[in-house]
Amino acid sequence: MKTYKLAIIPGDGTGPEVIREGLKVLQAAASKFGFKYEAHNYDFGGERYLRTKEVLPDSAVPELKKFDAIFLGAIGHPDVKPGILEKGILLRLRFDLDQYINLRPVALYDERFCPLKNKKPEDIDFVVVRENSEGLYKGLGEFQNKGTADEVAIQISHNTRRGVERCIRYAFEYTRQHGKKKKLTLCGKTNVLTFAWDLWERTFYEVAREYPDVKTEYTHVDATTMWFVKNPEWFDVIVTDNMFGDIITDLGAMIQGGMGIAAGGNINPKGVSMFEPIGGSAPKYTGKNVINPLAAICAGAMLLRQVGESKAAASIEETVKHVVLTKIKDLAAGKMGYTTTQVGDLIAGSLK
Ligand code: IPM
Ligand code: MN
Repeated sequence: MKTYKLAIIPGDGTGPEVIREGLKVLQAAASKFGFKYEAHNYDFGGERYLRTKEVLPDSAVPELKKFDAIFLGAIGHPDVKPGILEKGILLRLRFDLDQYINLRPVALYDERFCPLKNKKPEDIDFVVVRENSEGLYKGLGEFQNKGTADEVAIQISHNTRRGVERCIRYAFEYTRQHGKKKKLTLCGKTNVLTFAWDLWERTFYEVAREYPDVKTEYTHVDATTMWFVKNPEWFDVIVTDNMFGDIITDLGAMIQGGMGIAAGGNINPKGVSMFEPIGGSAPKYTGKNVINPLAAICAGAMLLRQVGESKAAASIEETVKHVVLTKIKDLAAGKMGYTTTQVGDLIAGSLK
């Protein structure tokens, strides 16, 4: 029987609660589809940092490389200054494990959950391929004359041909294989950011020549946010840089019903990938058994697809859809009509 080695980082806030339900569902899928997993827990996060003053031990990255996948709950602690844990854990792992793709599906399961008027599940069903290793997130820049009236803060968007091309290639492959309309949209800002987006646009159309079966399109990022609200049905697969991807996927999460259902994968196609609910640690709901675990459960499904258990992944996704349609009142924390634990039980107990 195939056994997967999984690194589990429950993290902060409600992370452990949603990961618990995610693992419950993975276990049910494993029994049903005939595979096993070994879970190894890591206590990285705010509590550990406050206790030890160490954000991430140096052994973490080489150790994590030995796993088949990483399942992450949430990083962010109210007593730790913003940025320390995000940079020191989440971004460090994305970078050092070279997870250069951040894959974020946006799918509306039921009209009831959409804040937009008259949009149906068939209208909101697309995927954002966010570059996950470069751009503004590279952290390059400097202060000049810091603390004076002449202060200048420079923040550089660092885009390499290699980095841009591998992301764009992934997006074309993904569109060819999974795109419903076989359409790939490049989301950028060619009219203002004329260095970075010149490189992106050139690379996009060069690679496009190898994919005559994929339709291509370009939209500016500002217009993209408008179309997400007005005509989300136009999109199939979107490829964009790190910063724009960060921003548009929060909007994407809202039109699919909120953070309670939004999952993502930090993917290194040739290495170890990390899957997470994208909603954060939600400190105010911590320990109350009210947070929605469906985003973590869907992240678990993405994890299974990545390691090769695509039937199990599809089964979880189908079951989530069914349970959401027939049972869940609202996707927001505390309004589901069930506790966190009960939602996990509902999915694990009725896998399709
Ligand atoms: C996300 C988050 C992170 C990001 C933060 C927590 C560093 O917002 O995963 O989208 O900006 O990438
Ligand atoms: Mn974000």
